[in-house]
Amino acid sequence: MIRVDSIFISAASLLLLVLLSAMTFTGEGRADMSRDQHPDTRPAMRLDPNLGNVARGERLAIELECVECHGRAGLGIQRGWPKLAGQYEQYLLNELRNFRDGFRPHVFMAIYADALTRRTMHDLALYYACQGEDPGVADEGRCARPATE
Ligand code: HEC
Repeated sequence: MIRVDSIFISAASLLLLVLLSAMTFTGEGRADMSRDQHPDTRPAMRLDPNLGNVARGERLAIELECVECHGRAGLGIQRGWPKLAGQYEQYLLNELRNFRDGFRPHVFMAIYADALTRRTMHDLALYYACQGEDPGVADEGRCARPATE
């Protein structure tokens, strides 16, 4: 009798496990991914020290309207529109690529990152990475690249 009960319980747990896994794999987030890769396991975008130009990044931020939400000083103009000033260049690169490729789904950023190239992502990432904590326009002097190892 006891054995029958435990077999029943094991079968019920197994069924629950199967159902939970099925729900995980058909989850909305996963369906949105354009490639079969979880964002957390996607290798970082390689930062090319020969790319990235602050002046071009600043022009792009204005032309592509990034400044309309993130602000000219990269501080974000309202709650929920993230501050980008002083953020790590590598982080900005990764996130721009993730928005562009649908790995970080977001209604606005998917549109604004859609046409970015490797070069324009480097320009924008460097531009924002160079901005200081205080409001102001990026200063090329702050953006000297560290010597490559
Ligand atoms: C309509 C407003 C809007 C515009 C225009 C816009 N963004 Fe964003 N951006 C957002 C919002 C909102 C988020 C937060 C997204 C989220 O919640 O995942 C964001 C997130 C980001 C992030 C990630 C920040 C973080 O801390 O993870 C980066 C980088 C970024 N934007 C860069 C840009 C660039 C570069 C442009 C121009 C090509 C741009 N954004 C244009 C609203 C905007």
